[in-house]
Amino acid sequence: MGDDATFETYFANPPAGIDLTALDRSRIPRHISCIMDGNGRWATERGLARGEGHRAGIVSLREIITACVRLDVEVLSAYAFSTENWSRPQAEVNLLMHLFAQTFIQELPLLRRENVKVVFLGDISALPKETREVFEYGLQETAQHTGMTLALAVNYGARAELARAARRLAERVAAGELDPTGIDEAAVAGELYTAGLPDPELVVRTSGEMRLSNYLLWQVAYAEFYITPTYWPDFNRWELLRAIIAFQGRDRRFGGLSATKES
Ligand code: IPE
Ligand code: IPE
Ligand code: MG
Repeated sequence: MGDDATFETYFANPPAGIDLTALDRSRIPRHISCIMDGNGRWATERGLARGEGHRAGIVSLREIITACVRLDVEVLSAYAFSTENWSRPQAEVNLLMHLFAQTFIQELPLLRRENVKVVFLGDISALPKETREVFEYGLQETAQHTGMTLALAVNYGARAELARAARRLAERVAAGELDPTGIDEAAVAGELYTAGLPDPELVVRTSGEMRLSNYLLWQVAYAEFYITPTYWPDFNRWELLRAIIAFQGRDRRFGGLSATKES
C-alpha cells in the first residue's frame, strides 16, 4: 500500500484552507453518499468529449474510496447511473456501461487490498451482458470482505425501489407470510436495496445542483446535505474532508431539540 497506507500518510500535506485539526476522527459519518455529478460539464469546459469527463470521474471515485477507507467510513455509496439516465444518447449510455465493466475489473485488486465489499443498489439484471457479468463476478469476489462496504447505485431510481419494495411486501402478504399490520418502517426498509446498511448521514452532491434526482428518497430522511460547485472529476480527498468538517459543524436535531443547546 506504500505511502498511502494510513490516515496520516494519505492526508499528509493538506492544501491551504484545509485544517486537519478541525476534523474529529471520532465523529466520521458511518455512511457517506455521493451524487457524482458534473462529469459532462467538466469535459465540455475543457473542450473534451463528455466521455473524458466520465473517465476522469472514475479517477475521483477511486480516490474517494481510498479516502473513506482511511477515514474508517463504514459505507460509501455512489450514484453512478440512474433509471432516468437511459434517456441519454445511446452512445453515451454504451460508453458508460463499458467504462463501468472495464473499471470494475481494473479496480478489483484495489478492492481486495482494501478489503472493500461491493454491493449494488438498483436492478443490475437489466444491464448489458458485459457489465452485468462483471458486476456479478465482483459481487462474488468481494462478498467475504469485512472492511468498508461500497454501494454502487447503477440503474437505480428511488421510486422504482419503493415500488419494488411495495410489490415484494404485497407478495409476502398474498402468500400468507406477512400480516398487513406487520408492515412497519423496518419492514419497508428491509425490502429496499439498502437493506442492512445504515442510512446515509452525509450526502454530497457535486456540480452545484440542489436536487436529489430520484436518489435514496427513503434513506435520506435525516441525512445532512453538502452541495459543492466542484465538478465530480475535481472532487478529491481534501474536498471530502471539507464536507465532513462541515457535517461535523451541523446541529442534527432529528425532530427533537438541539443536543448542545438543550437545557
Ligand atoms: C454524472 O455526470 C455522471 C452520470 C450521470 C452518469 P453528468 O454526465 O451528469 O455530467 P453533467 O451533469 O452533464 O455535467
Ligand atoms: C444524477 O445526475 C444521477 C447520477 C449522478 C448518476 P444527473 O445528471 O442524471 O441528474 P439531473 O438530470 O441533473 O437531475
Ligand atoms: Mg448531471
